[in-house]
Amino acid sequence: MEGLVGAAVLLAAGFAGLAVVMSGLLRWAHTWFQERGLGKELRQALPPGDMGWPILGNMLSFLRAFKSGRPDSFIAGFVHRFGRTGMYKAFMFGSPTVMVTTPEGCRQVLMDDEHFVPGWPKATVELIGRKSFVAIPPEEHRRLRRLTATPINGHEALSTYLKFIEKTAVQALERWAGMEEIEFLTELRRFTFRIIMHIFLSSGSDSTMDSLEKVYTDLNYGMRAMAINLPGFAYHRALKARKKLVSNLQSFLNEKRARRAQGVPAVKDMMDALIEVEDDDGRKLEDEEIIDVLIMYLNAGHESSGHITMWATVFLQEHPECFRKAKEEQVEIRRSMLSSQTGLALKDYRKMEYLSKVIDETLRLVNISLVAFREATSDVKVNGYMIPKGWKAQVWYRNVHMDPEVYPQPKVFSPARWDGVIPKPGTFLPFGGGSRLCPGNDLAKLEISVFLHHFLLNYQLTRLDPECPVRYLPHTRPIDNCRARISKVSASPT
Ligand code: HEM
Repeated sequence: MEGLVGAAVLLAAGFAGLAVVMSGLLRWAHTWFQERGLGKELRQALPPGDMGWPILGNMLSFLRAFKSGRPDSFIAGFVHRFGRTGMYKAFMFGSPTVMVTTPEGCRQVLMDDEHFVPGWPKATVELIGRKSFVAIPPEEHRRLRRLTATPINGHEALSTYLKFIEKTAVQALERWAGMEEIEFLTELRRFTFRIIMHIFLSSGSDSTMDSLEKVYTDLNYGMRAMAINLPGFAYHRALKARKKLVSNLQSFLNEKRARRAQGVPAVKDMMDALIEVEDDDGRKLEDEEIIDVLIMYLNAGHESSGHITMWATVFLQEHPECFRKAKEEQVEIRRSMLSSQTGLALKDYRKMEYLSKVIDETLRLVNISLVAFREATSDVKVNGYMIPKGWKAQVWYRNVHMDPEVYPQPKVFSPARWDGVIPKPGTFLPFGGGSRLCPGNDLAKLEISVFLHHFLLNYQLTRLDPECPVRYLPHTRPIDNCRARISKVSASPT
């Protein structure tokens, strides 16, 4: 009997050993295949790292880390195995990749348009649109960016939108306070969606907007998912959502063209600007181009702002001292307003110094855009290592913001860390950087501040499940979408 057990143990050990050898061989062959053709010198100048498994690469450990609630353990695993080199080779989203995790490295990649172009995974490009900013040639990007970014940024643009943002915030808070409970995040996404729809399409009934926003939720859940186009998978649902968005925007566009043909005067919005724009050769944009740019803007323009507004409110409510300071500031601003003034003006917004630190700290801690994707257009040296032509460079915003050497006690919410601080280059990248810097950064901060102004003066938030687990993909959010009650607390002037 003992002999039989012994033989079984030996056999099992043999199989285990064989499995280890086989997996080692598979991984080695995968690395060799990805690095073939690089030449010895380039291969040796690659950063350290691990290309993972054939086809899957490092995606399983990436998804495991993010889905198990320990998102920072993914990069920490590389640091643990290869040291704090700040750059690691890996195989992510189907491509050989160099992950860049230090402020200097991230900044260098973001600023270098000569050697890098956007390098989003094919699956993501399919969702955002092949004619959107993530995939068009650099000259086209510059032209469309100029056209679309100017009307949403800058003093004049922000003053134009302030009234609408404020009215929408006041109405939303009043409505929620009359409700038993709400999904706070879902409602905030609707709030920010209403604003971006107003700016870009200047139209849409409440019910159309709410149902369109729901479609965007499906689109987003597919963004960082495995690209499996089979029923039941997030990516499949996201592709269907995109089809619906295309068809909806096409209807908007057809209506707009019909009204223009009949000479009906219309409020000029971003869709009109995109219909009218011509390049140097007099070429106008095709419908597909207009629709892709709009799908991208409507998505980027509400999703992140909605999440950050929710987290900033939650953090304030969880930190009474910060809440008190932030409220004091808003009460003071209110007090200093002329009695004839009916609402906030940009000059009042500029006085919200403490609130601005609360928002910056929220942006740092929540890391809505955890990573940006670029592709090297030629072999390029970053931080002493080479990124070969055609490889992806992943700019790990999240790692910069959560690095204890850059931000001591990074997991602690502390607006005071911004007292008298001007961040060193590359250390604070919530809106990215370089030519792809978020064109909606000022608008986003304005809408979050205006919302918080009214919230702090008159309301409080009670979460129904404050311990609710957090999901980190595609964006950091409580899995119950922050079920909560909003209640009115005082008669401060609004
Ligand atoms: C808190 C809110 C927001 C955050 C955290 C955020 C973050 C970012 C980041 C990190 C990027 C750079 C991505 C890269 O490097 O490739 C970006 C790009 C972009 N964002 Fe935002 N964003 C926010 C709000 C907005 C708003 C309100 C709009 C629209 C009005 C907007 C429109 C865009 C667009 C169109 C791009 C692509 C820019 C380009 O490729 O040239 N974002 N955003």
